[in-house]
Amino acid sequence: MVLLHIFVVAETRSNKIIDHSLLKETSKVSGVVSSSGEINQTRRNITVGDSLFAETTSNNNSSTWVVSPLGHFAFGFLPLEDSNHFLLCIWYAKIPDKTVVWYANGDSPAPKGSKVELIDDDGLVLTAPNGEQLWKTKSLDGKVQQGFLKDNGNFVLLNENHQGAWETFKHPKDTLLPSQTLEKGERLSSRFLESNYSEGRFEMLLQMDGILSIHALNSPSAYANENYYESRTEESNTSSPGTRLVFEPSGYVYVLRKNSEKYNLSTWSGASTDQSYFRATLNFDGVFTLYQHSKSLLGSDGWSAIWSQPDNICLSRLATEGSGVCGFNSVCTLGSNQRPSCQCPKWYSLVDPNDPYGSCKPDFIQGCAEDELIGKEDIAEYDFEMLINTDWPLSDYVLLKPFTEEQCKQSCLEDCMCAVTIYKSGNDCFKKKLPLSNGRVDVGLNGAKTFIKVRKDNSSLVVPQAKVNENSKSSLSLVAWVLFGSSSFLNVMLIAALCMSLFFIFQYKKKHRGIGKSENALETNLRCFGYEELERATNDFQKELGRGSFGVVYEGVINIGSEIPIAVKKLNTLLFQQVEIEFKNELHVIGLTHHKNLVRLIGYCEAEKERLLVYEYMSNGTLASLIFNKVKPEWKLRLEIAFGVARGLAYLHEECITQIIHCDIKPQNILLDEYYNVRISDFGLAKLLKMNQSRTNTAIRGTKGYVALEWFKNMPITAKVDVFSYGVLLLEIICCRRNVEMDLEEEEKGILTDWACDCYSRGTFDPLVKDDKEALDDKRNMKKLMMISLWCIQEDPSLRPTMRKVTQMLEGVVEVQPPPFPSQFSRHSQNP
Ligand SMILES: *[C@@H]1O[C@H](CO)[C@@H](O)[C@H](O)[C@H]1NC(C)=O
Ligand SMILES: *[C@@H]1O[C@H](CO)[C@@H](O)[C@H](O)[C@H]1NC(C)=O
Ligand SMILES: *[C@@H]1O[C@H](CO)[C@@H](O)[C@H](O)[C@H]1NC(C)=O
Ligand SMILES: *[C@@H]1O[C@H](CO)[C@@H](O)[C@H](O)[C@H]1NC(C)=O
Repeated sequence: MVLLHIFVVAETRSNKIIDHSLLKETSKVSGVVSSSGEINQTRRNITVGDSLFAETTSNNNSSTWVVSPLGHFAFGFLPLEDSNHFLLCIWYAKIPDKTVVWYANGDSPAPKGSKVELIDDDGLVLTAPNGEQLWKTKSLDGKVQQGFLKDNGNFVLLNENHQGAWETFKHPKDTLLPSQTLEKGERLSSRFLESNYSEGRFEMLLQMDGILSIHALNSPSAYANENYYESRTEESNTSSPGTRLVFEPSGYVYVLRKNSEKYNLSTWSGASTDQSYFRATLNFDGVFTLYQHSKSLLGSDGWSAIWSQPDNICLSRLATEGSGVCGFNSVCTLGSNQRPSCQCPKWYSLVDPNDPYGSCKPDFIQGCAEDELIGKEDIAEYDFEMLINTDWPLSDYVLLKPFTEEQCKQSCLEDCMCAVTIYKSGNDCFKKKLPLSNGRVDVGLNGAKTFIKVRKDNSSLVVPQAKVNENSKSSLSLVAWVLFGSSSFLNVMLIAALCMSLFFIFQYKKKHRGIGKSENALETNLRCFGYEELERATNDFQKELGRGSFGVVYEGVINIGSEIPIAVKKLNTLLFQQVEIEFKNELHVIGLTHHKNLVRLIGYCEAEKERLLVYEYMSNGTLASLIFNKVKPEWKLRLEIAFGVARGLAYLHEECITQIIHCDIKPQNILLDEYYNVRISDFGLAKLLKMNQSRTNTAIRGTKGYVALEWFKNMPITAKVDVFSYGVLLLEIICCRRNVEMDLEEEEKGILTDWACDCYSRGTFDPLVKDDKEALDDKRNMKKLMMISLWCIQEDPSLRPTMRKVTQMLEGVVEVQPPPFPSQFSRHSQNP
């Protein structure tokens, strides 16, 4: 077995080496220049002359200009998906997904280096580096003096008289915040797609007649289609008209009537704001939703929808002038959370592949002119795709009745206008023509059959080469017909289209051949990258995430099907031999694993003199940065993390084909993804053991403070060394401090493991978590974790539980017995 030949050169690491792999370093937010020229990290308010440049920072990509007094909201630039353009916007500053609540320049993304400035006559002015004005505030009231962001998310400009000159709450985009109102004539407009802030397809308006309505807009004239949602707050004999939409701080949303009555948008009427953020957003797909997000973000599930309007947008009122919720020829299906999804029928595809909510076009040639070219006898060229309960209610042009299903299909086949036919109630045959609008799945159709007419050989203008080679005389003749049977202008167009499609097929093949070749180079599921490719992905190794003993880790984005953020570890080739070993080791070890608590290696690069490893990017950095922080993370989250590490290790030890000992478990090597899930990383020092070989002799690996005694005592090394390190780590997670802290006043507390043993012999663990109310409130679990930890750091490896046992103890499947008192010998041995 090849894997066993991998031996790692002895290396004793000192605690000082922070081997953090994909560690995310915090660095200063740059680019904020105040009028006096000083550089500030964040500010509470801005005055005339202040400006901010749009640029990425290694912190979190965002350039923050101002934050609200309690830090709930931030105002500044966030990068758009392409990371080269920026959005001037307001977002929640305390939760990890930077949800945008207001934005300025959705239609004109700001290139890197753009500048926003506060000017007395113009308010906020956003200018591109080439001097082009991208956006500025409109309808200012007076000369502006300063601006600040309130804790409710409202950015306010004040004039010389210290009165409001302009505020974002009066110019909402797609989101309302608690304490914000929508007055008559005011509107929300959706963005185009979740991460495309251009003008969207839907609008919510408090009409002058007091009705709150939502409707689609027909681009680009913005003509409003029929409302698909309306509040019943019209003026009439029996009802008082609506005057404004109110969003109370409790999250309660209603239309206030003239007679002070409230018209509820939902039966839900609010909750405590101390615990939660609320926002009401007109989503890009036309659904107006109230969202809630826990303010204690750690362990939170993100935004959850409390209610939405309308209940089923797919079945809402039909739009005679537009395409409906989805594009033309598309079908709307209601997903979870009352949100629609749009799908093209089979043999139809998106007109704009980047817009899944847009229109679909047939992939085949269809129409009366084409049918005529082919000739009547070729009607057999068509076939039907059948769907159930799918309808485009406004696209009928003929109703045949009474009719049988067979007659219905035949009639559509013979009719060059017919694109779809629906057969209902065993009697009714509706023929429909293109473009089909308001497509929907509706169980209310009671099993109606929808037949979509498609060309049998699905030949289209883009003739796949394979088809031509195989046999299909008909598709060739079709092309010939179309080419020679139409005008010369059309011919030119068609030939151009053919050439282009051949070109693309060629390009596609070329590209795919490349991938095929590299993929079978090494591990089966790992990808082999070219050096230049990674150079591009990391923008020439620009943004450093951290450094380890073997190399530097950089941030990047790579496009493999879709764009994914990556962390690239560039091994230091000056230490070439060691690097080669670390490289091979990491590749082989991670290549063998697949577990949700282990970091995933995406691929590698083996260039002449360079060795690189490509991992998925972990946005929340290392466990070390989380727990060795002034603010203790929530107790519940810490428990989750302790579980996660244990599960990951149990998997490495027991569930892989080859047992894997990590050998370097410490908080710097535990990474956290965007949801704070644990991902164990840095397998450079790991050892592989065959199933029947459970011990090994080897030189010392790992990091002082976390290494077990057997390394020093020339004892066989087993998976129990990881158990020891886990014990130390667990104590650190419970206490949120480093195992070894030399500069403490009380020397007895200098080494956490020793102090924990002392506490244990004195019968109480409380001093260890003295200031940690959450831990003290959960004493039973706290004690359990302490005891598990003490079991793990037993001097005698055979006394330490297996990681499997540890997970069972954590889960409460196995009772935790009181551990033996660690002997004097084992203590202090960690302390040279
Ligand atoms: C804005 O900040 C300056 C100094 O940072 C302070 O003197 C001033 O009172 C602040 N203005 C407001 C409205 O908070
Ligand atoms: C930084 O930008 C990249 C590329 O746009 C993105 O994938 C990544 O998630 C961003 N990081 C943070 C912390 O927002
Ligand atoms: C957003 O969508 C609009 C409309 O399709 C498109 O013109 C624009 O390029 C898109 N913007 C981005 C950043 O993709
Ligand atoms: C259409 O073409 C694809 C291959 O491009 C083939 O797999 C499929 O069977 C064809 N469909 C019909 C209806 O001929």
